[in-house]
Amino acid sequence: MRDDILLAMRKFVAPEFVFGNGALTLAGRQAAGLGVRHALLVADSGIMDFGWPQQVQESLDASGVETSLFTAFSSNPRDHEVMAGSHVFDDAGCDALVAVGGGSAMDCAKAIGIVSVNKRHIREFEGVDNVERPGPPLLCVPTTAGTGAEVSQFAIITDSERRVKIAIAGKTLIPDAALIDPETTVTMPGTLTAHTGLDALTHAMEAYVSNANSPMTDLLAREAIRLIAAHLLPAMRNPKDMQGRGGMLLASLYAGMAFSNAILGAVHAMSHSLGGLFDLPHGLCNAILMDHVARYNFSAAPERYADIGRLLGARFDAAAAPEEKKEAVLAAMRDFKRAAGVTMGLAEIGVGPEALAQLAHNALDDPCLLTNPRQPSQADIEAIYEDARHTNG
Ligand SMILES: [Fe+2]
Repeated sequence: MRDDILLAMRKFVAPEFVFGNGALTLAGRQAAGLGVRHALLVADSGIMDFGWPQQVQESLDASGVETSLFTAFSSNPRDHEVMAGSHVFDDAGCDALVAVGGGSAMDCAKAIGIVSVNKRHIREFEGVDNVERPGPPLLCVPTTAGTGAEVSQFAIITDSERRVKIAIAGKTLIPDAALIDPETTVTMPGTLTAHTGLDALTHAMEAYVSNANSPMTDLLAREAIRLIAAHLLPAMRNPKDMQGRGGMLLASLYAGMAFSNAILGAVHAMSHSLGGLFDLPHGLCNAILMDHVARYNFSAAPERYADIGRLLGARFDAAAAPEEKKEAVLAAMRDFKRAAGVTMGLAEIGVGPEALAQLAHNALDDPCLLTNPRQPSQADIEAIYEDARHTNG
């Protein structure tokens, strides 16, 4: 049988990247190639103990690139931290950014870059294509396998006054180059491996069912799901399993390119809302929500959800009734996230019923909702949050 090929126009953007052990050591050469003289090294303070930012700094030193270090930002980076970082950038006379860490370091560096060039408050860039001038050169070295920020056209920053996460999106947010080195991910603790890995899984699933998907993003999303199903649990069981680590980092890269171009959906809209109001880990919020949103979305993309279920190990007859397929797919998602240690509902992490109206209101404002295959109402989103407060099945 011939597949139906989507012939509607779609654009695909991705930065230059190097994938493989030792990629980190190319930082100096890459920066020098971009004409960089003094880089602001934006690094997660938590990984300083593992030495990855220092190794990047040594590589930059060896190529004659000066560095200043900035680590004063949270795991959900805040607007005032970005503004403080842009002052450090200006005061030190920096001309480029090098991010070393997870999504927080990379999003923070992207945000510092556009603030420093455009001289506006970070909150003013909220939305799509609101950045007039691109930031200075940006190199990204991810040390977690999940965020995809090293290849994406998004930065997510917390507006600390409104307690919402704002999405800043556009081609100007894409890094100039990403150095994607599996060796840097061996120092992730098990819980972070699980949460970031389930974030990558959510990126791939949401890109696959997105109403902006394309043949190119489908290819990447399916392969990302297959890799995550094969490699997440081994990487959690044995942190030094380089096949597991490499498989997960590759999956994160594929999922990152898929979602950067096909965009996301209701899981991310609802997860951003939770992260803004309660400052919770992003990957954990996605993992808790994923099957509850899939239950709501299923009827809008049944064949695509069936593909996701098969890739996660669900078994069902191709001729099975839609309801039977749906339950098999949802069970595969639940089994997988539970095997990765996510067994709780939102209630258990402090989300009470009184917060649901505000959470749903903020989620409805999130641009990720635009590409969700089904358009929910305020009441629909509240009901999904309520379901996700409790564990089920
Ligand atoms: Fe995410």
